[in-house]
Amino acid sequence: MKIQKLIIVLNVFLSMSTYNPIMPIMQNGLKLESFGDSSISKELYDYILANLPKGSTILELGSGWATDQLAKYYTLYSIEHDKKWINTYASNYIYAPLKNGWYDTSCIEENLPKQYDLILVDGPVGSTARKGFLDNIFLFNTDAIIIIDDLDRPNEFEMIHILAEMLDREIEIYSGAGKKFGVLTKIKNKDAINL
Ligand SMILES: C[S@@+](CC[C@H](N)C(=O)[O-])C[C@H]1O[C@@H](n2cnc3c(N)ncnc32)[C@H](O)[C@@H]1O
Repeated sequence: MKIQKLIIVLNVFLSMSTYNPIMPIMQNGLKLESFGDSSISKELYDYILANLPKGSTILELGSGWATDQLAKYYTLYSIEHDKKWINTYASNYIYAPLKNGWYDTSCIEENLPKQYDLILVDGPVGSTARKGFLDNIFLFNTDAIIIIDDLDRPNEFEMIHILAEMLDREIEIYSGAGKKFGVLTKIKNKDAINL
């Protein structure tokens, strides 16, 4: 009886909370089919919609349910390591299995689009794997807006700071429901006058 009461109280509490880590799992098994959890937050989605003109091109590392949401307004290219997700969502997939802990660079090099406006780093799965983006930054168009998800994790937090130094860019950090994301925006001192 006490346990039943506890479950009712917990459910009422979670249903009032903006971030409910259990509901997406309960509703969808282990599949992510909503913002938050393993998918980008609604705040990150809204940020992109507010700051990137419709019709632009996004290159994302790690595809998922949010790919479909973004594809309503943008052209998507998705670097994806897991064969089972290839062609699941409305994106142009670049299948790159993991090699030495990051995407196989030979698969990326050959298939990257010529032009893209925003890079969204949300893969591969696991926090340490994403640092491969730093080691292979020369593969990418670094003039694009760069967004790194999961900045509440120490590795991603460190990664965006290293990247900002490397590229001489400013960092903006935003809170989403239950997690943070970072944006590398304008080039530092771009408009400064050299005396
Ligand atoms: C953090 S998720 C990427 C999420 C994606 N950027 C989004 O916001 O929806 C990282 C990996 O999870 C896997 N994945 C893709 N779709 C999924 C789904 N519906 N459920 C669970 N995992 C998924 C893929 O291998 C993907 O690279």
